[in-house]
Amino acid sequence: MAGTFDRTAEDLGNIVALEHVNVTVPDQQLATLFYIKGLGLTRDPYIMTELDNMWVNVGRSQFHLPTQKPQVLRGHAGLVLPDRAALLKRLATVKDRLAHTKFKVTEHEGYVEAMCPWGNRIRCHAPDAQRFGRIKLGMPYVEFEVPVGVAAGIAAFYRQVLKTRATVENDAAGRYARVMVGKEQHLHFRETERTDPAYDGHHIQIYVADFSGPYQWLLQKGLITEESDQYQYRFKDIVEPDSGKALFTIEHEVRSMTHPLYARPLVNRNPTQTNRNYAPGYDAAIPGMEHAD
Ligand SMILES: [Fe+2]
Repeated sequence: MAGTFDRTAEDLGNIVALEHVNVTVPDQQLATLFYIKGLGLTRDPYIMTELDNMWVNVGRSQFHLPTQKPQVLRGHAGLVLPDRAALLKRLATVKDRLAHTKFKVTEHEGYVEAMCPWGNRIRCHAPDAQRFGRIKLGMPYVEFEVPVGVAAGIAAFYRQVLKTRATVENDAAGRYARVMVGKEQHLHFRETERTDPAYDGHHIQIYVADFSGPYQWLLQKGLITEESDQYQYRFKDIVEPDSGKALFTIEHEVRSMTHPLYARPLVNRNPTQTNRNYAPGYDAAIPGMEHAD
């Protein structure tokens, strides 16, 4: 019967997936210790398997880690990882070898924050179907710290230009723009008094259904920064849509849903499996939640 279901609850905006966060790293061995051994994530076995880059799978998202001087996201990436105790144990095993770096682990009531050897903050949450959807492994959000007073303009930019859902919210940590970037994925732009370091060129990548619409708008305003290929362009500046005033800088790699890599299956391993405790059939991590209903 009509009215039985809230159909709007299943609407996605024009941004259908947040796939990767790209931060360059100066040392792949240290990056391996942190992301693979410590966090328990999985190196993509198919692409970027050399020393000049590493793709790291987190459920249906990735970190991209090209080799270069370090970049640090101005905020933090939020992950869901299945087992807090196992995570803490793994992070403890890399502590000594990362002691000369910025590596740090802080335990909080709702999450564990792990800092990468160069200062990137990764906030690791336990699975929570209410908050993150039915995932045990994934990247449900990325949060950026932005100047006070820009959240409303940022939300307007994503609504009007990228044509996705975006609202201004308030929670215990204050005011932020919440932008839908996929099924149970969001960007947060958190207003903060803290003065951020200068933007260092890191980027995020999104897939959009209407690819040319935002492109035309950005092109007219002179905001397209790279014509990458047939399926991808980039922009860096988030602007107030009416006045054009720049609000925050974060490079977006924008891809069409016809991009050959769209929805590519990603391999995820079960990091608790070892040669010593080996149990057949438990090699793969299952990113979805069991008995989710
Ligand atoms: Fe990228």
